Formats: sequence, C-alpha cells, structure tokens
Amino acid sequence: MTAGVFITLEGGEGAGKSTQLKLLEQHLIARRIDVICTREPGGVPSAEIIRGLLVDGETDKWRPLTETLLHFAARHEHIARLIQPALEKGQWVLCDRFADSTTAYQGYAQNIDLETISSLYRLVVGKLEPHLTILLDLPVEVGLERAEERGVGGNRYEQIGVKFHQRLRDGFLEIAANDLERCSVIDATQSIEEISASILSLVDERFFSSEIER
Ligand code: TMP
Repeated sequence: MTAGVFITLEGGEGAGKSTQLKLLEQHLIARRIDVICTREPGGVPSAEIIRGLLVDGETDKWRPLTETLLHFAARHEHIARLIQPALEKGQWVLCDRFADSTTAYQGYAQNIDLETISSLYRLVVGKLEPHLTILLDLPVEVGLERAEERGVGGNRYEQIGVKFHQRLRDGFLEIAANDLERCSVIDATQSIEEISASILSLVDERFFSSEIER
C-alpha cells in the first residue's frame, strides 16, 4: 500500500537533476508537504556501499550483467529500508534516478537484454511504480561538457565514449515515449530557472490541480 507520492528524476550526465530535485523539494516544503530527497544508486548506508563499487574505478571493471545486478541489489536495499516505509507513512519521495536508469544505462547503452532487466524489475521493484518521472533531456555533448566542468575526472560512466551516451539518450527518450502517462520530457538546455518553472508547473498540475481550480 502506498499513500505517499513517488517522483523520480532521470537523464544522462550533466542534465542538472540534483539541482532541480532541490528546487522541487523547496517548492513542496513551501506547500507543507512532508518530503524526502534521495538518490540511486544509494540512498541508504548499505546501498551507498554498493554505489562506491559502481561509480569508482575503471570503466570495464564489471561485466555489464554484474553491474545490472549490483544496481538492483542497491535498489532492493533502498526500497525496503527507505522508499517503501516513507511512502507508507504518506511522505513524498523525490529520487535522483531510479529503475529507468538501469534500463537506459545497462539495457540500451550496455546491451543487457531488456527482458532480463524487466524480470529483475518485477523481482525487486514489483508494483512500486513512480507516480511521475521527469526526464531531463539534452544533447550528449552538452551534458558531458557540463559534467566535466562539475567534477574531477568524472565517475566511471562519464568516462565512457560519446556513442554510449548517445544510446543512453535515445534509450531514455524511448522509455518516455513508451510510457507517456508516467513520464514527462523536459528540455534541459534551458536555464536552471526555466527548467525549474516547467517542473513545478508539471507537479502542480498533476498533484494540486483541484486546488488551482478552486
Ligand atoms: P549520478 O551521477 O546521477 O549520481 O549516478 C551515478 C552513475 O550511476 C551515473 O553515471 C548513472 C549510473 N547508473 C546506472 O548506470 N544504472 C542505474 O541503475 C543507476 C541508478 C545509475
């Protein structure tokens, strides 16, 4: 049983998800919503340990299937220890990446069979589907440039070639196109303020429209 609201932010490298998540959190706090922000891989101490295994080191350190299993292992910890209990308490959960990232990164970009990913999804995530997924979309070169400006050397995934990131972008767009009810695509080449305005009006429309009409 979920009583709260589950919103996920997705996108390639440098799309600005973390900044937008914080701005959305502030907006919801102003509306007196009990909200928590979290991220994947990670979000709880056990999953953060798995995150370290995934994001640090050489790009070819794991076989793609191992990597897929590690992401789902981290997700199982995250759901069981944080997401599910929070939703049951009626909290809103804002998550920086969730299962669509596995479909896009390990499925579309690393060529793990999408049916394998669906089976693991059914096992680990079950019926827990985000109420809304916001996909921040931007051209690969722009995203990688922004990610490079932000960090020292980047994580394992940022170091993989442009073709990988193009498959990733196409994958995310296909996921969104296949599930228009859950997913909204936002042009992330816009300014931080413009992107935030689009996200806030999307959330207000989706979850507070009866208040707006009053
Ligand atoms: P972050 O940079 O958004 O914090 O995410 C860490 C990296 O992990 C990012 O490069 C994307 C990658 N990732 C996957 O490959 N599969 C997944 O399922 C998730 C959640 C993240």
